[in-house]
Amino acid sequence: MAVLDRQHYIESLPASKRLADATPLAVTDATSMSEIDDYLVSRHDDFEADLCELLRIPSISADSAHADDVRRAANWVHDHLQALGLTTELIETAGHPLVFAQSEQIPGKPTALVYGHYDVQPPDPLDEWVSPPFEPTVRDGNIYARGATDDKGQMLTHIKSAEAWMKTVGQLPLNVKYLIEGEEEVGSQSLGTFLTEHAARLACDCVVISDTCQFGPGRPAITYGLRGIAYYELLLKGPQQDLHSGSFGGAITNPANVLARLLAEIVDGEGRVQLPGFYDAVVPLTPREREGYQAMAFDDEGFLAQVGVDGAIGESGYSTLERRWARPSYDINGLWSGYQGEGAKTVLPARAGAKFSFRLVPNQTPEQVTAALREFLEPRLPPGITMELKDFHGSPGVLVSLESPYIEAAANAIEHGFGTAPLYIREGGSIPIVTSFAEHLGADVLLLGWGLSDDNTHSPNEKFCLADFHRGTKASAQLWAELAKICG
Ligand code: BES
Ligand code: MN
Ligand code: MN
Repeated sequence: MAVLDRQHYIESLPASKRLADATPLAVTDATSMSEIDDYLVSRHDDFEADLCELLRIPSISADSAHADDVRRAANWVHDHLQALGLTTELIETAGHPLVFAQSEQIPGKPTALVYGHYDVQPPDPLDEWVSPPFEPTVRDGNIYARGATDDKGQMLTHIKSAEAWMKTVGQLPLNVKYLIEGEEEVGSQSLGTFLTEHAARLACDCVVISDTCQFGPGRPAITYGLRGIAYYELLLKGPQQDLHSGSFGGAITNPANVLARLLAEIVDGEGRVQLPGFYDAVVPLTPREREGYQAMAFDDEGFLAQVGVDGAIGESGYSTLERRWARPSYDINGLWSGYQGEGAKTVLPARAGAKFSFRLVPNQTPEQVTAALREFLEPRLPPGITMELKDFHGSPGVLVSLESPYIEAAANAIEHGFGTAPLYIREGGSIPIVTSFAEHLGADVLLLGWGLSDDNTHSPNEKFCLADFHRGTKASAQLWAELAKICG
């Protein structure tokens, strides 16, 4: 059985939308492309040096103590785009600034909007890093630093590819806009607001995002689906203060006991989430997808070994790829109550709390999940316990149509940059703003990930393969040529 391909989608495209029928521009001829490729090779070391400079800035969006660093990273990206001769703007928001840039408009050519993020996750636990998170270090062809793959390294490929065009051909072959934000890792709230108010400024034919992974080393991919997320914090309150567990235990409800029970009851032994109606809106996997994923021959053992476990559980009836890509999941992200210090303390804690989240798939929505969660929790609260449920960032999952000339252009570009055609995959992670792009801009979203699944995103020793950094840049430079062949 063949791995998922685009052939049957292409057959359904109107002839006018097929690339083969378009006439290439003079500026996208073979000579200029090889000139561009040569330029990229000649600048390898400088590109890496620039990436290091950006990686040295600890732009941790979740930590207000780093607000100045976040701004420094915004300025770095802004100045870099400005130096290319683009029209740029640093846009202030209620949170961290947005960087916007635009190439000189060429009428009749399509417009691509590059989206990426310059903010990073907190680096803790610090003592597990081999080299410090904000001192980028190269080992075995990988660059190690927080943000290396997520998303500074990946995002930079689309800036460097523009540089190659500007410095060789003198201009880009199409219209390119850049929108690089600093709140992706905390839910993209400011960008969400900006998007509803300024959709016209962002008008485009396609959105280009490199903030995902390849299927594996040497197996580049186009991601056509992302999971969404619904994130919560639950606080259970019992007695007015901590109590002696001998004097009160067994007679007074212990919020930690209740929390443990409630959190455990959210999922059953078959890995099925128990919230009412949770699966009602879930779009099932198509037989074609199931066959395609099967044919990818995912290495389950290697996957377990990568994270150091000897087995795993999940929703029964689904493969590992299906569970990660196309089925919803539930995870506790943080848990606290009672005594955490050295030795034993016999306490009945007054409070217990947890952070937990659901990964969603199309067409589930965070709003539905919130309502179902309240409906599930409230009747289960025993006497003596009250709850506070806080609702954090949420976004629905997305599926991108592969029936698009832009996808074909991206596939050609990837083949040029990586020397092999892409696979079509989904991703278990979320990029919350993608749904809003599809809604407000009506544009096709191209998720062209240059990362690898063992890049340690959000973990100690995050890395990015430098060869993929350069291959991604080469693919991006080719992408501008490929997209330019499509009528705007
Ligand atoms: N780049 C990731 C999304 C991603 C995760 C892609 C894993 C490929 C593999 C993005 O920066 C991210 O971490 N998103 C968050 C969103 C959340 C903070 C709302 C996520 O998925 O947890
Ligand atoms: Mn990211
Ligand atoms: Mn991330």
